Amino acid sequence: MEAPTNGPAFHDVEVGPRGRHLPEGTPSSVDVTADAVTVAFADALGGATAATFHPTWLRDNCPCDECRIVQTDERRWQPWRDVESPQAVSAKIVDGALHVTWNSGHRSTYSAAAFANIDRASHRGTWTGRAWTAGYEIERFDHAAATNDMVTRRRLFEAFRRDGAIVVTGSPVVPGSVLDLVRTLGLTIRDSSLGLIFDVKLDPAGYNIAFTAEEVPPHNDNAQYTNPPSGQVLAMLVNDATGGESVVVDSWSVLEQLEALDPGAVDVLSRVAVGHRQYSTEAEGFSRNPLVVRDRDGHVRHLRFSNQLMQPLEYDDPDLAAWYRAYRLLGTIVSDPANHVSFRLSAGDTLFVNNHRVLHSRTAFVPDGPRHLQDIYFDVDDVMGHLDRMTGEATDAMVTG
Ligand SMILES: [Fe+2]
Ligand SMILES: [Zn+2]
Repeated sequence: MEAPTNGPAFHDVEVGPRGRHLPEGTPSSVDVTADAVTVAFADALGGATAATFHPTWLRDNCPCDECRIVQTDERRWQPWRDVESPQAVSAKIVDGALHVTWNSGHRSTYSAAAFANIDRASHRGTWTGRAWTAGYEIERFDHAAATNDMVTRRRLFEAFRRDGAIVVTGSPVVPGSVLDLVRTLGLTIRDSSLGLIFDVKLDPAGYNIAFTAEEVPPHNDNAQYTNPPSGQVLAMLVNDATGGESVVVDSWSVLEQLEALDPGAVDVLSRVAVGHRQYSTEAEGFSRNPLVVRDRDGHVRHLRFSNQLMQPLEYDDPDLAAWYRAYRLLGTIVSDPANHVSFRLSAGDTLFVNNHRVLHSRTAFVPDGPRHLQDIYFDVDDVMGHLDRMTGEATDAMVTG
């Protein structure tokens, strides 16, 4: 596997919970008020750091066998079960563990290990991604190594999480073999009403622009679904046509640029639901959703972008003018070569993209030779799950006494 030779065509993006971690060490003293429980944690050097807990949070995370289903590690206690909101009536430290008696009469014990487990669970899904632009090199992994060697597979998953795109090289060029690759990586394939495999080849009766030789502008797939699959695999079986280069675009970079150019644009794209339709003789798909989903911190969770499949807004939509201003700007940034990473998918190359984040496109081609691509879909959450097991972030029991 070759090392990436990336220049400054990316910057880091922190994803996931960014709050403070609980202090390490052993509970050493506790102070209770009506609306807070403050615990000091003693470290190995004799110092102490305190953390102040909201009583409902502390009660809700009681690790006892009554509050958790031991067999399955699921929650049993419900925060709305007690009529009065939880209040600590007394608390003390015994043998390095916090003991709390609640107004309901329930008693909770929190050891240092229990606090460490709660801390790990509350910070799970914290990682560093990269927002990239033209000049970035999508990492490539050898098929045999990715399927046989767990160290390579972990690096593949980490690169995919970070960049939202990787290429596997040297894949078999047998139709359907992409199913084996994805299953071997431990990913569950997502079916759709248009079929399990999206066979992309020249087809005069095809229902999608990809079945023509025309340029396919940047988009993500299955915008007609409210929940499009978050992972997509594009496996090139044969590519002997002239042209037809692949282009990928990172929506993280695109939406950052949009926000910088027009701070209100991302907001209107997050508020207005727009219809998308994709259909064939057998299948009818339509849903109405906003183009952008962001979280409280402004982090992009989903860009839905398929100008091809988009349906008309109502002519009297009250946000129409602002929405079109934002959409034109968004499309201009998506189309800007400064945001395009281009490469040729040759026979045996398999592109993986995060379909909620990375747009893909294809330049026009001359059908002077065969070209056949097979697309299938999966859920990126399964990649995250494998990574969390590989790194130890996920354990068998998230909460233990
Ligand atoms: Fe596509
Ligand atoms: Zn309990």
